[in-house]
Amino acid sequence: MDAVLVENLVKRYGDVVALDGISFSVAGGEIFGLLGPNGAGKTTTIKILTGLTRPTSGRALVAGFDVVKETREVKRRIGWISSEIIVDDELTALENLEIQARLHGVSNWRERALQLLRYFGLADAANRPVGKFSTGMRKRLEVAMALLHGPEILFMDEPTVGLDVGARLGFWEVVRQINREFGVAVLLTTHYMEEAEELCRRVAVINKGKIAAVGTPDELKAKYGVDVIELEVEKPVDVSRLTPFGEVAAQDGKVLVKTRRAEEVLADVVKAVDGVKSVKIKKSSLDTVFINLTGASIEGEQTDLRKIYMRVRRARR
Ligand SMILES: Nc1ncnc2c1ncn2[C@@H]1O[C@H](COP(=O)(O)OP(=O)(O)O)[C@@H](O)[C@H]1O
Ligand SMILES: [Mg+2]
Repeated sequence: MDAVLVENLVKRYGDVVALDGISFSVAGGEIFGLLGPNGAGKTTTIKILTGLTRPTSGRALVAGFDVVKETREVKRRIGWISSEIIVDDELTALENLEIQARLHGVSNWRERALQLLRYFGLADAANRPVGKFSTGMRKRLEVAMALLHGPEILFMDEPTVGLDVGARLGFWEVVRQINREFGVAVLLTTHYMEEAEELCRRVAVINKGKIAAVGTPDELKAKYGVDVIELEVEKPVDVSRLTPFGEVAAQDGKVLVKTRRAEEVLADVVKAVDGVKSVKIKKSSLDTVFINLTGASIEGEQTDLRKIYMRVRRARR
């Protein structure tokens, strides 16, 4: 049975179409990512799947139960982690777990809570106020809280927003571990390409309420991957001079040229345009898959040249 099955889901807020008929499924035990920019409809999807809001039309099943008609059955089987803080700083780790246990009606919670704290390396901190925790510790506590009632599926809405790189890598490891050892399926949303690529078995690219593609990162790259040459220009460009090199898109003062192999045409592309201020190459990656599918880059996601050179060097080895 699928952990999650979404069919033709539509959500409107007045005139705003937040979800415009999306369909996808998450297999049992899978780590699945919804990858998209701000406003794509990620949080709306999670809210519908966790029973916080109702779809306008379409259907969604979680662990085989209808999210609208069988909300109680759904809630019993899911855990939820959001980027907003859900732990209480004044309380200790154990007290936070106790509240969570009461919310979910978990009896004999204490033993399981202590077990989880040990599992996440928080045993020594069990009776310390959470306000003194590092970000990584707090994140692990959130996961422990989400797992307390033994859910089959964890939903995580942009779980690593605001974490530094170290804490983010640590969190990915925690997600992999609980997925492996507790057998829980994970549906997470993210606007970080690397997160989708490194952590998720399969990814759905979502943009403006629609799913543009679904597949493993490798499948998506094989099918939609391109190199992108990004030119920052002083004045409007005669696009026809660039079309011989590949498809061209313009985005706020920038010109994006999609090509198969950026290195081979880079010099000619730069020569073809007057007033180039800067040049960037994006090698085929989920980032350029996203550009190819949506015509724009995910906001706030910038790949600098150093990173690309490192990647190119790594690939050549
Ligand atoms: N409660 C709401 N009322 C009106 N519009 C909303 C509401 N929640 C979300 N939206 C709109 O729906 C769209 C999708 O939002 P959201 O699901 O939060 O996207 P994401 O989480 O991918 O950033 C956006 O255009 C957003 O402004
Ligand atoms: Mg959101």
